[in-house]
Amino acid sequence: MTSSERSNGTVDVFEQAATSYDRTGVSFFGPFGAELVRRAGIRPGARVLDVGCGRGAVLFPAAEATGPTGRVTGTDLAPAMVALTAEDATRAGLTHVDIRMGDAQQPDFPAGSFDVVLAGLVVFLLPEPEQALRAYARLLRPAGRVAISTFGAMDPAFVAAMDALARHLPADQPRPAPTDDPFADDQTVTATMAAAGLTVTAISQHRVESRFRDVDHWMEWMWSHGARALLRHIPAELLDAATTDAARALAPARLPGGGLALITTIRVTVAVPSPAAACPNDPS
Ligand SMILES: C[S@@+](CC[C@H](N)C(=O)[O-])C[C@H]1O[C@@H](n2cnc3c(N)ncnc32)[C@H](O)[C@@H]1O
Repeated sequence: MTSSERSNGTVDVFEQAATSYDRTGVSFFGPFGAELVRRAGIRPGARVLDVGCGRGAVLFPAAEATGPTGRVTGTDLAPAMVALTAEDATRAGLTHVDIRMGDAQQPDFPAGSFDVVLAGLVVFLLPEPEQALRAYARLLRPAGRVAISTFGAMDPAFVAAMDALARHLPADQPRPAPTDDPFADDQTVTATMAAAGLTVTAISQHRVESRFRDVDHWMEWMWSHGARALLRHIPAELLDAATTDAARALAPARLPGGGLALITTIRVTVAVPSPAAACPNDPS
C-alpha cells in the first residue's frame, strides 16, 4: 500500500465518522483541543492555521483566542468535516474563521503566513509526519510557533478492549502492529521536531476522564472517530460477540453507580523554528 493510499483510507474513516465525530456526549476531543490552544499561547489578532481541523475542537477555542481581529484557517481532507464545521462556524457568526479542504501533509500556503500552526491529534495519522512538521515551520512568521497534540498513555482497560475487538478481525486483515512511533515519548517527540527543524520549547501532558453510560455508548463513541478504522473490518455477524468481549475487557473501567470511565493522556508539544532552520543562509 502506498503512503497516499494509506492517507486516503484514513481520511475515508473520518469522512464516514464526521456527522457523529465529537457529538456522542463524551468529553474527549473538546478538553484536549482547548488545552492545545491554551498551551499554544495564541494572542488576540494572531493568524492561526489548524491542520486536520475535524469538527473544530481546536479551531473554535483558537478563534476565541485570536478574537475577531485575528484569523483562523482550518483545513481537513474529509469533505464532510469541512462542510459541517464550516456550517457550525457560520451559525456561530465567526467571520474571522475560514474552513477549507487542505492536506495536513503538504499545507498549501505561502511561507510566513501564520503566527501559530496547530495540529490536534493528527500528525501521527500522516504518511510522513517529519516532512509535514518541516512544512509547518516554513509557514511561520517571525516569532511564530507550532503546537501539536499526540496521544500519551491510554487507559489499560481501553487497550484491552481494543485487543478484544481486534481478535474478531478476519484472518487476512492486518492487525494493528506496534510501529516506531515518532511521538512515543518526550525524547522521541523532541527528536522528531529537531529533525524537522523545530526546537521544542514546552512539552506537557494532560489527562481527561471520559464517561460512558454503558458499553453500547462506548461502541457508539468508537464508531465516531479513528477507532472506526478497526471496527469497520469486523464482519457484521461478529460485532455482537466482539462487543461482548470488549465489555468484559472494560470491566476495570466500570463505575460503582453504573457506567464506565476511561482516562486518556495527551502530550502537547510547542516548538519554534531552530536557528539554523530559520536562517539557512546565515553564515554566522
Ligand atoms: C483525530 S481527528 C482530529 C480532529 C481535530 N483536530 C480534533 O482535535 O478533534 C483527525 C482529523 O484529521 C483529518 N485528517 C487526516 N489526515 C489528513 C490529512 N492528510 N490532511 C488533512 N486532514 C487530515 C481527519 O479527516 C480528521 O478530521
